[in-house]
Amino acid sequence: MNKNIIKTVSLALIASLGFIMAGCSEAPEQAAEGGFTTVTPGKLTMATNAFFPPYEYYEGEEIVGIDAEIAQAVADKLGLELEIQDVEFDSIITGVQSGMYDIGCAGMTVTEERMQSVNFTTPYATGIQSIIVVEGSDITDLDALIESGCMVGVQTGTTGDLYMTDEVGEDRMDRYNKGNDAVLALLNGVVGAVVIDNQPAQAFVAANEGLTILETPYTVEDYAMCVNKNNEALLDAINEAIAELQADGTIDAIIETYIPSEEA
Ligand code: ARG
Repeated sequence: MNKNIIKTVSLALIASLGFIMAGCSEAPEQAAEGGFTTVTPGKLTMATNAFFPPYEYYEGEEIVGIDAEIAQAVADKLGLELEIQDVEFDSIITGVQSGMYDIGCAGMTVTEERMQSVNFTTPYATGIQSIIVVEGSDITDLDALIESGCMVGVQTGTTGDLYMTDEVGEDRMDRYNKGNDAVLALLNGVVGAVVIDNQPAQAFVAANEGLTILETPYTVEDYAMCVNKNNEALLDAINEAIAELQADGTIDAIIETYIPSEEA
């Protein structure tokens, strides 16, 4: 072989090696890791509605709370950067379904109906529905609320909305995009009661004078993250992360920070 041929062959070898290596490093990171894909590579895009303390709320510009911290811990385990988007609660499931967000994480109750549209992860927390009324109200329980004829304030698309629509009918429902706005309507006498999950209910009552909480007879609800039905690999990876975070006490510790157990 003359020198020129050797040179050409080795150049070609180097070039193809470089090509293979470039090809390697360009392979989608997620596929190499857990076999899942995300809406934006390298990110876990989470949709929430950040007016739901202590699960998600603003501290200055930042969204904090139980869900934000648990999702951050899950994202860390998956090697992804967490991006939180604050949207209307009733657009979370459709957004996850249509591939806008990887997960919905919003104190979201697992229901049979929602399971038709999305997959739910292992539950990581629980909640119950509560009735908020003004102190001294004649409404002392759910039956009294039903009989009162009063308007009922809820957050649009929540389980409180679904249950109360069944109980009192469409005409008596007053729906708000934010839980706080329903509470404001109660303070202004526009509605006679607000039905919402018990932890945000406690936060709203603590922040406003003259309100009190009644418990509904509705049973305990499980909170879980929702994931697109076609992304089983992401669901599995998140479930694995949640199992580890439950086993090592991380999730309990996060919940305890926001809901000290004497209060729960
Ligand atoms: N648990 C209720 C539901 O799933 C209410 C959730 C509202 N969440 C929120 N981030 N605003 O319907």
